[in-house]
Amino acid sequence: MSRRQGSGIRDPGSGVGDQEPGVRDRGNPGALLRLESCTRAFGGLVAMKDVDLEVHPGELVGLIGPNGAGKTTVFNVITGIYEPTAGKVLFDGKDISGRKPHQVARAGISRTFQNIRLFRALSVMDNVRIALHLRHRHSFPAALFRTPGVANEDRAQTEEAHRLLEALDLGHLSGEAAGSLPYGEQRRLEIARALATHPQLLLLDEPAAGMNDQETDRLMEIIREIRRVFGVTILLIEHDMGLVMGICERIYVLDYGEVIAAGLPEEIRADPKVIEAYLGVENDEL
Ligand SMILES: Nc1ncnc2c1ncn2[C@@H]1O[C@H](COP(=O)(O)OP(=O)(O)O)[C@@H](O)[C@H]1O
Ligand SMILES: [Mg+2]
Repeated sequence: MSRRQGSGIRDPGSGVGDQEPGVRDRGNPGALLRLESCTRAFGGLVAMKDVDLEVHPGELVGLIGPNGAGKTTVFNVITGIYEPTAGKVLFDGKDISGRKPHQVARAGISRTFQNIRLFRALSVMDNVRIALHLRHRHSFPAALFRTPGVANEDRAQTEEAHRLLEALDLGHLSGEAAGSLPYGEQRRLEIARALATHPQLLLLDEPAAGMNDQETDRLMEIIREIRRVFGVTILLIEHDMGLVMGICERIYVLDYGEVIAAGLPEEIRADPKVIEAYLGVENDEL
């Protein structure tokens, strides 16, 4: 089987927490995001099965699992790209299952994609300005005649775009074409764009994919920093356990579409089911 490929568990560490595994993963009515028994099938293939997941305001939560485990499907169901076949998605207490992607975005959820989506021919600055534009929309006559309000807002948008680019270490590249940037910087630009809509919840799909170790370390610092500066709650998909263990407060592990473990990083690291799901990699490849 080649669906698994990956880094396995790095640095198993020593400490096992004294918390009961899984105690913290359910039952909080104040959750910002809550998936209740969410299932999504594609024909006969169940990509996501009975998934229960919660993210509380201000948390940084990881979602990990081998390739093909269903991680991106979870994001696609949250953001309205796919409707759940069964179950519910609640955001801020409201049922958003079945809403369209633009409605979900307007409700306060923003995401990046595993396959980068940028306007490659446009500058880094314009990529962010376009995203900002979606938030501030003027009436057509006001925009046409560039009333003073519009001019002021243009200036405010340029300033905000600069702030976002600085936060993502991209300030010095604002005039470059997005498509000419190295991979790691394109991924950071995607995050800047996602933040431009002022989301309450930011979903990052494998933000470190294609980055070297140094870029990955820097990205972890940036992710911590944007949570603090922008006050955003983050759900992060990662294939690499090392990255997730380093920054996430709680972690969910998916395997074959099901949550096989949920808890603190040290609990996840020591969980035999998780170790097996990841070690399947090496065994498969032998
Ligand atoms: N639109 C789709 N149509 C058919 N199968 C899909 C679709 N999206 C995802 N899948 C399948 O669902 C499973 C989970 O995929 P995915 O969520 O992308 O996994 P991950 O992000 O964990 O690698 C895979 O077997 C994938 O081929
Ligand atoms: Mg994926």
